[in-house]
Amino acid sequence: MTHKLAAYGGKKVREEPLDPHRYLQTRFGEEEKQAVSEVLDSGYLCRVFGDRAKAFEQEIAEYFGVAGAAAVSSGTAAIHCALAALDVGYGDEVITSPITDMGSVIPIVAQNAVPVFADVDPNTFNINAASIEKVLTERTKAIIAVHLAGQCCVMRPIMDLARERGVHVVEDCAQSYLSTCDGRTAGTIGDVGCFSLNDFKHITCGDGGFLTSDDRDLIYRAALFADKGYPRTGPVRNSLVMGLNYRITELQAAVASVQLRKLASIIERRREFARILNEMLSRIEGFNPPTVANGIVHSYWFYPFTIDSELLGVDAATFAREVTAEGIPVTYPYLGSPVYLFDSVRKMHIYGSEITYKEGLCPDAEKALASMMVLPCNESMTENDARDIAAALSKVCDYHLEKSNHDT
Ligand SMILES: Cc1ncc(COP(=O)(O)O)c(C=O)c1O
Repeated sequence: MTHKLAAYGGKKVREEPLDPHRYLQTRFGEEEKQAVSEVLDSGYLCRVFGDRAKAFEQEIAEYFGVAGAAAVSSGTAAIHCALAALDVGYGDEVITSPITDMGSVIPIVAQNAVPVFADVDPNTFNINAASIEKVLTERTKAIIAVHLAGQCCVMRPIMDLARERGVHVVEDCAQSYLSTCDGRTAGTIGDVGCFSLNDFKHITCGDGGFLTSDDRDLIYRAALFADKGYPRTGPVRNSLVMGLNYRITELQAAVASVQLRKLASIIERRREFARILNEMLSRIEGFNPPTVANGIVHSYWFYPFTIDSELLGVDAATFAREVTAEGIPVTYPYLGSPVYLFDSVRKMHIYGSEITYKEGLCPDAEKALASMMVLPCNESMTENDARDIAAALSKVCDYHLEKSNHDT
């Protein structure tokens, strides 16, 4: 006998709804305040004169075990600097994912290059070597491997394909700090890794970003691009490349540096929460937990899931609304459409290209977005929260199972 759903007047699983933003209350502590205060006391807020951003870059390189890092003003800026450093320019094609933030698309267009969308694996929602190969042409200059939701793409076949075809690989790690593929950390596998420090990410300084690479020269070129082409050496000013002002400030770098020290523990707590959740949810008929590809360790920026709509006889939008009414917020849809159907992308004019972006371009991405729901998953969530999530999901699944059995 199932219980009446809260959406239709029944008792809620959780009277006080689960607050997915609880972690914001403890996100910053005395260390961040101290770090900001030290920068203010130094009198220098701009990285050109201060030493905090430079020290942060050193810390990133050591943390990720790479030859160099460049800190910039956002994740979008990091990707733009990476493409500029890789000499992506007019008429080049850059392959990216249809399920991502516009930060993985705008930099391509800003370089007068052409965004090309590879379809996603319907289970992991990431692009893969097979889908990339289908859209790779003579004009492809780079691939942006977007690691979605905390899950690194399966990188070895992507790297093999890229090397064979002489194409660069940029890893978009904005959502996937410390995810690993075959034991290697996201951001250390491709030619360059790009990270975001915006307010929604595993770690933050409000807005910010950085690049990681084993190619010191690439990092130098990216840093030049982020500072209007100025090398900042010698007494006479000269600009070496056409760049932008993508500088991170000393204040941002100071906060980000403290946050970097907290990263491992944040990821560890998210993984532990996801482990508990996976275990509890595995018993629910009709519920599909996130698929993690072989060789990948997830870092759970969010927890994507789907349901067996046929078995339960309910669509994702209704299901998400019903679980939310139980006091467990479920996001649906994650994106209203693949990014190639966003207004800005459909309206853009790409010089020298006849390419158009229309429905049906990446059918698996379109299907995935129609079915993917998102549960919050962060370091403040407890075993009790997991129990409530499981109770709400199982209540809604059981309700529909019984209803479909009854109807047939
Ligand atoms: C996958 C992905 N790439 C790039 C970005 C851009 O980062 P930012 O907002 O720091 O510019 C984001 C941010 O949401 C993202 O999720």
